[in-house]
Amino acid sequence: MSMPIRLRSFALALPLILRSAFGAPQSTLDPAGPAAKYISNLSWIVYMTFCVVGVIMWILLAWASTRRKGSFDHHEPVDIEDGHSWIFIGGLVIPFVILATIFVLGLNTMAAFPVHDGGHVHPEIRVTGRQWWWDVEYVSGPIEAHFRTANEIHIPVGRPVDIELLSTDVIHSFWVPRLHGKEDLVPGQPNVIRIEADQPGSYPGQCAEYCGAQHAHMMLSVVAQSPSDYETWAAGQRNPFAQPVNDQQMRGQQLFRAKPCALCHTIRGTDAQGTVGPDLTHIGSRQGIAANMLANNPANLAAWVTHAQALKPASQMPNVSQFTGDELQALVAYLQSLK
Ligand code: CUA
Repeated sequence: MSMPIRLRSFALALPLILRSAFGAPQSTLDPAGPAAKYISNLSWIVYMTFCVVGVIMWILLAWASTRRKGSFDHHEPVDIEDGHSWIFIGGLVIPFVILATIFVLGLNTMAAFPVHDGGHVHPEIRVTGRQWWWDVEYVSGPIEAHFRTANEIHIPVGRPVDIELLSTDVIHSFWVPRLHGKEDLVPGQPNVIRIEADQPGSYPGQCAEYCGAQHAHMMLSVVAQSPSDYETWAAGQRNPFAQPVNDQQMRGQQLFRAKPCALCHTIRGTDAQGTVGPDLTHIGSRQGIAANMLANNPANLAAWVTHAQALKPASQMPNVSQFTGDELQALVAYLQSLK
C-alpha cells in the first residue's frame, strides 16, 4: 500500500525536482559564468559516473538474485577463488580508479578558479557578511568613487570581477550557484573570489554556512548588466542621496532623522550615519529588502519597519512602531524615493 503512494508522490514531485535542477534561478546545473561552468561540468561527470555504477550494480544484483535455483540445501558450492577476484576488482580496483579520477578532476576544477588570500589582488568589491545581511562596498578607483550598498551586487557582463569576502561576526558563505561555488567569509581572514557573468540577468544567491537564527533568510543577488548599464548604475550609486521632491517625502526625511532609524543606518549626504544596518542611500533602487527576503515595495517596507522582529526574529532591526498611519506612509514614500 505504501509503495504506490510513494511512487505517486515521486511522480508528483518529479516536475519540481527537474525544475529545481535545470530551470531554477539557483541551479548549479544551469551555469552562467566560467567558474560555474567548471563546477557544472564536474557535477555532470560525477552524476553520470555514479548513474552508470548504480545501473551496473542493480544489474549484478538482479543477476545474482536469480542465479540461485532451488532451496538452500541444493545450491551449488561457491567458487572461493572466483569470489576473491570479484571482491578485489569490484571492491577495490574499480572504486579506486573512479574515486581517484574524480579526485584529480576536482583538484583541476579548484585550480581553475583560485581563491586568493587578499594579499595579491585589488578587489573591486568588498562584501562583508553580517548577521544577517550583506554589506557591499565598491572599492576600486579613487576614494571619491567608492560607495556602499547592501544585498545586491551589480557587475558588468563579460569580464571577471574580484570580490573580497570578509565577516565581522561569524563565518558565512557566499554562494551564487549560477556564477560560482561556495566561498566562506571568515572573520580576520579575507578571501577573494573572481566571478564573471556571460549574460545580463539577476542571479540570486544565498548564505551557505549556518550562521544563526536567520541564516536561511540571508539572501543576496548579483545583477549582471551591460557595461554601459553598469556604469550608469554605478554613477547613480555614487551620487549623493535624492532630495525630497514633495511634502510627504520631506516629512518622511524628518521622521527618518527624528526616529531611531538614523542611529543604525546611513543616508549619505545627511546626518544619518549609522553603520549597524545597511546603507540606505539608494534603498529605492534595490530589488529587495531584509536581505532580499521581501520584494522592495511600499507594503513590505511598511511591514518591515513596524514588524521586523516578527518577520525576522533575532535580527538587529527592531520593531519601530511609534508611527501614525500618515507618518509611516511618509517614511515609506521617502525611502522609496531614494533611487
Ligand atoms: Cu550567513 Cu548563513
